[in-house]
Amino acid sequence: MCGIVGYIGDKQAQEVLINGLSRLEYRGYDSAGIATLENEMIRVEKKKGRLKNLEDVLDKTPLSGQVGIGHTRWATHGVPSDANAHPHCSVNKEISVVHNGIIENYMTLKDELQAQGHVFISDTDTEVIAHLLNELYTGDLVETIQIALQRMSGSYALAVLCANEPDKIVAVRKDSPLIVGLGDGENFIASDIPAILNYTREVYLLDNGEMAVLTADHIQVMNSTGNTVDKEVFVVDWDPGDAEKGGYDHFMMKEMVEQPKAMMEALMSRCCENGASFAGLKLNAEMMKKINRIQIVACGTAYHAGMVGKYYFEKFARISVETEAASEYRYKNPIVDENTLLIVISQSGETADTLAAIRLAKERGAWVLAVTNVVGSSIAREADDVIYTNAGPEIAVASTKAYVTQVGCMMLLASFLGNLNGKMKKEDAARICHGLMMTPGLIDKALETQDVIKAFADKNYQISDLFYMGRGVDLYTSMEGSLKLKEISYIHSEAYAAGELKHGPIALIEDGTIVVAVCTQENVFEKMLSNIKEVKARGAHVLAIVQAGHEDIASEVDEVWVIPEMDDDITAIPTIVYLQLLAYYLAVARGCDVDKPKNLAKSVTVE
Ligand code: F6R
Repeated sequence: MCGIVGYIGDKQAQEVLINGLSRLEYRGYDSAGIATLENEMIRVEKKKGRLKNLEDVLDKTPLSGQVGIGHTRWATHGVPSDANAHPHCSVNKEISVVHNGIIENYMTLKDELQAQGHVFISDTDTEVIAHLLNELYTGDLVETIQIALQRMSGSYALAVLCANEPDKIVAVRKDSPLIVGLGDGENFIASDIPAILNYTREVYLLDNGEMAVLTADHIQVMNSTGNTVDKEVFVVDWDPGDAEKGGYDHFMMKEMVEQPKAMMEALMSRCCENGASFAGLKLNAEMMKKINRIQIVACGTAYHAGMVGKYYFEKFARISVETEAASEYRYKNPIVDENTLLIVISQSGETADTLAAIRLAKERGAWVLAVTNVVGSSIAREADDVIYTNAGPEIAVASTKAYVTQVGCMMLLASFLGNLNGKMKKEDAARICHGLMMTPGLIDKALETQDVIKAFADKNYQISDLFYMGRGVDLYTSMEGSLKLKEISYIHSEAYAAGELKHGPIALIEDGTIVVAVCTQENVFEKMLSNIKEVKARGAHVLAIVQAGHEDIASEVDEVWVIPEMDDDITAIPTIVYLQLLAYYLAVARGCDVDKPKNLAKSVTVE
C-alpha cells in the first residue's frame, strides 16, 4: 500500500526512481511522483493515474539530480489527483517527503500550522509532515525529524529530502515497512525488495522506530533514542527475473504458472516419509501440552487459507480452532492468554491488521506462529516462530501462488500437530505428505485445461453475477474462487455452503444464473447432487467440478470440469487453480486490468 523508493549515488536519480516505481506499482496506482535534488534545489513532478502518465511528462521535461525520492500511491486521505500525489513539499520546496501510512493527528497539526501561516495545497495527511519539518527545522534534518516524530501519531515509512542538506536522504519507519539497499558509491531506500533488486541484493531491514541517514558512501542507522545501531546485512536470494513478467501478459498468469514450482519449494524438506517435519520450528510437543486454544488470524485470501487450516487442524489433530479476520480479531477483546497458540497467515508479512493481532496476542502471553512468504518482513520478525511459504515474490494484486503454498503449509502443520498430540495415525500423516507431493503435478494438469476455461469465459463474460457453492473444504475453495473473481473481473459473486442456499440465497437464482458447484469430496457428493438439483430447478446454469470417476454428473448439470482423481484431503490445492483461471479469463474477456484491479493494492499496511 503506497510504494516508496529513494536513491543517492552517481546515477541520474530519475532513472533509478522510475525503474523502482515500475516494480512497486502493485502497491498502489492512483498516482506517482518523484522529487530530485540538484544545486540545493528540489524539483518535483507528480501525476494522477498510472506511472505511465508521470513517465510521459518526464520524457518531455526530465528531472536531473543524483539524489531523489519517489512514490506510487494508494489513496487514503484525499482523492487521487495531481495535488494529492506524493512527494509533498513545504511552501518553497525546502523539504520534500514521501510517505506510506497514516498520520492520525494530522488535522490537529494542520490547524496549528495553518494558524502559523502555512498554506496547504492538498488534502493529504502527508503534506502536514513537510510543513511540520519546515516549521521545526533547526539546521539539522536528522534532529528536526526526531523532534517532529514526537508530535506525530500513526504509522509511517518516510523518506525526506532537504534542500539545505543536499547530500543526504533521511528515512524512518513506524509500522510501515522500509528497507535500505547497500550499493557501491550509491545507496537506496525502498518499501519493498523488488524496487531495488536490479541494483543490489544487500539490504538492511529497518525495525520499528529506526532511522537511516543515507549519503552516497555511507549509511547510518539509529534507533528511536538516536543511538547508532549495528545492522546485519540481509542478502536477498530472489532472482531479479522473479519480479519481471517474463513474457506473460500479466503477472497473475505468470504466478499461476509458477504454482507447481512454488508448491515444491513449500513442501521440500517438510514432506517426509513418516509425516510433516518443520526444521527450526520452536513449537514442540512439550509446548503443545499447555496449549488449550488455537486461533488462526489473517485477511482476505490468507484468511481463506486459514479456513482450510481450521478444517484440517480439526480433522487431523482433533483440536478445535477459531479462524478470524484480523480486522475483527483485534477489536473484539479476544480470549487469548499464555495457553493460546496464535497462527497468523500473511503473504506480504506487512498487513497492518494482522500485525496488530500479533502484538495484541503477544501482550497477553500467546505463542505466535507466522506463516508468511516474505523473509524478514515485520510479521516474520515479530512472531515467535515462522514458517516461510517459499512461493517467491508475488507481484499481481490477486494472490495465487502464495495461497496454494499457504494451504499446503497449513495442511502440513495440521498433520504435524496431529503427530505431536498423537491424534493422527502415522499412516495418515504419511498419506498427507504423499498426497501433497502430488500437488505440483496436479496443478500442472489444471493449467493444461486453460483452453476449456478460456472458452467458458469467452462465452459467459457478460454475466453480472456468479455463485459458488461447496461443502466441507470445497466451501473454502469456493470462497477463495469467489474473491478472486470479484477482485479482478468486478463481477458480483457470492460463495455459499451448499446446504445454506435454501435458507435464503436461493432467492437470487434466476434463469441462466451461473452456479459453480465444487464437488470434490466423496463424503458429501450425494448431498451436493441434491443441492445442484435445487438450483437447477430454479433455472441455474450449473458448472460442476468433480474428480475423475464422477463424469456421469454430466446428466444433471450444464457443464462439467473433471479434475484428476486424487486424495480427497488435498483437493483444495489443485481445485483452486481452476477457479483462479476462471476468474482470470473472465477478467481478460471483460477487458479488465488483471494485475491492477481498481481500488486495490497489494500489501495493506493501513488498517
Ligand atoms: C486477494 C489478496 C488479499 C490478501 C490480503 C492479505 O487476492 O491478495 O485478499 O490476501 O490483503 O494480504 P497478506 O497475505 O499480504 O497479509
